[in-house]
Amino acid sequence: MAGKSPKIDSVTGVEIREHEWDGIQELDTPTPRWWLWVFLACCIWAVGYWVVMPAWPLPSGYTKGVIGWSQRANVVRDLADLAETRKPLESQLMTADLSDIEKNPAIFEFAVASGRAAFKENCAPCHGSGAQGALGYPNLNDDDWLWGGSLSAIQQTITHGIRNQDKESRFSEMPAFLRDGILTRAQVDDVVEYVTQISGQKADAAVAKRGAEVFGQNCVSCHGSDGRGDRSVGAPNLTDAIWLYGGDRASIRQTVSYARNSSMPSWASRLSPATIRALAVYVHSLGGGEPEIAAVPGPKAP
Ligand code: HEC
Ligand code: HEC
Repeated sequence: MAGKSPKIDSVTGVEIREHEWDGIQELDTPTPRWWLWVFLACCIWAVGYWVVMPAWPLPSGYTKGVIGWSQRANVVRDLADLAETRKPLESQLMTADLSDIEKNPAIFEFAVASGRAAFKENCAPCHGSGAQGALGYPNLNDDDWLWGGSLSAIQQTITHGIRNQDKESRFSEMPAFLRDGILTRAQVDDVVEYVTQISGQKADAAVAKRGAEVFGQNCVSCHGSDGRGDRSVGAPNLTDAIWLYGGDRASIRQTVSYARNSSMPSWASRLSPATIRALAVYVHSLGGGEPEIAAVPGPKAP
């Protein structure tokens, strides 16, 4: 623009730049002063920050900064602090008598909180995040227990699981009555009608009467002569309206014909004894927990 005097915009008094697009021209407005100062301050701040804090990635690592701040070290320290504060409670949880845990508010709260966290991580995939269960997975909030609802019974179930490779796992096997040729299709239909009847649903009395005989010969050894189940073999009560696999005729027929015999993992080798205790206290606290005496019959807790 040598030689030419700049064009000045008559409205703003600001210089107009050379270029033009379709009749639109641009004012050459200078950057405001305050902006320059802020920019300058940021530059100075940045230099200070590089010196004080970890900042520049280098082939040999990164600049550590003069105050030695490290997010990783903070996390490690926080975790160590947490473990330290938990230690006394954790050791109390381990040494306390099972039946005393719920009487001591501090240990109890600690156990329920860590049990809840461990439950979300390990048990929720099968039992649901609120332990409400699902088809084939028992609800742990109610007082209907397959194997027992006392603290020690629950602890035993969690420690060794059900129908798995653990030598101390809880075990029992309902036969697949139709598949294994123990009952004919007609006998299965009869006993299904009987189970339908004793569970309080509408049933054909004549068929159920025949079914009662089949039940007496094949089912009472586990489900009891009154059909109310037996915890020593994990056999469910068939007279309540609570079903693990469904209480309609088709579901019951499926169970009797082919059996279910589902399994639950053993946790002894995966979770610490303190975590298992916390889980037991948590599950026991959900609403269906029973006192110790009610634990019998059933395998003894370790
Ligand atoms: C892979 C699925 C699975 C996982 C994971 C699992 N469970 Fe289970 N659990 C089951 C099944 C299936 C049963 C019922 C088995 C049966 O028929 O006896 C069961 C039964 C139980 C019972 C016995 C309930 C009763 O009525 O006696 C308790 C207590 C229990 N689970 C707690 C837990 C806890 C606590 C965890 C987490 C550490 C857990 N389960 C993880 C599948 C699972
Ligand atoms: C050896 C013991 C045993 C015998 C015998 C047995 N059951 Fe079972 N039964 C069980 C067990 C254990 C379960 C729970 C199993 C599971 O989780 O797969 C069960 C579950 C059931 C269920 C499912 C209940 C629910 O809540 O969904 C029905 C129905 C049932 N049995 C009916 C019968 C009938 C009818 C007979 C006789 C023809 C019979 N059982 C014989 C042990 C037995």
